[in-house]
Amino acid sequence: MQKIGSSARPEWPLAVVISAGGMGMAAARRLSQRHRILIADLDAARAEQAAATLCAEGGDATGMGCDITDLAAVQALGAAVDMLGGFRVLAHVAGLSPSMGDFHTVMRVNLVGAVAVTEELRRRATTGAAAILIASLAAHNFRPPEAVEELLRRPEDRALPEKLAALLGDAEATPQRAYALSKYALMAYCRRQARTWGERGARIVSLSPGLIATPQGAREFEKSPNKIKLFAQTPLRREGTMLEIADVIEFLASDRASFISGTDLLVDGGLAAALTDN
Ligand SMILES: NC(=O)c1ccc[n+]([C@@H]2O[C@H](COP(=O)([O-])OP(=O)(O)OC[C@H]3O[C@@H](n4cnc5c(N)ncnc54)[C@H](O)[C@@H]3O)[C@@H](O)[C@H]2O)c1
Repeated sequence: MQKIGSSARPEWPLAVVISAGGMGMAAARRLSQRHRILIADLDAARAEQAAATLCAEGGDATGMGCDITDLAAVQALGAAVDMLGGFRVLAHVAGLSPSMGDFHTVMRVNLVGAVAVTEELRRRATTGAAAILIASLAAHNFRPPEAVEELLRRPEDRALPEKLAALLGDAEATPQRAYALSKYALMAYCRRQARTWGERGARIVSLSPGLIATPQGAREFEKSPNKIKLFAQTPLRREGTMLEIADVIEFLASDRASFISGTDLLVDGGLAAALTDN
């Protein structure tokens, strides 16, 4: 029986949301309608505040600090998921845009960290679980050289950023390059992982947003003139909203998406299509 005056829902499945930022919070809010939430972020205070907000709105949420680049912190996240009985949904949203770090940092957070979390949590996936990893439009419409692609096939390698930088050379090892390569490799990782997740009766997909109105998105507009050009080419002539991304995450997490695995869903208002010569 539920406790009077409490919105604790111990019988609900758990959704783990990595990021209490713009899209992370939008996803957590949406998933909190049918799931308990564990929300984790580098910024512990932000994660705890996010959980408090969700609880105040009638959800059942817990917040915790977790630096996804720190293996011990990722293991602590795994232990927290164990305590909560395994998970039904993993929404891995955390990531850095190119203006937020150097080549190594962007690679370490967007790829090595994201993969560390997914590997750590996989064995805690309950039957019917879904993992949704946020990639990007930036990962589309290009293919890295074979030698680079070969290295990207091993995102579990903690020394990957250094190996890639050495291969690319200083002039090429830019944060922009790290962003596109990290998201490209994350998409490829989800494809490769479909078989392993399938063995557990679980799914894994990536979701590639185009230009989305978030604080991080706004910052990139200020720092990157190229983004204004991309905006002008978006067929729908606007940015997407965090609510539109939350909608897609909710769908991918649900049983309505029960046969979708090992693929990427592009949610970009048609931009990738407009950028290719058809
Ligand atoms: N906004 C866009 O236009 C856009 C477009 C394509 C893809 N994306 C991707 O969507 C995701 C979310 O973007 P957003 O705009 O909501 O970003 P945001 O900056 O609002 O949130 C990102 C969150 O990640 C957290 N984070 C950073 N480093 C971390 C670490 N080491 N460990 C744990 N958490 C960490 C930050 O503290 C922050 O709360 C990112 O992966 C981003 O690359 C965004």
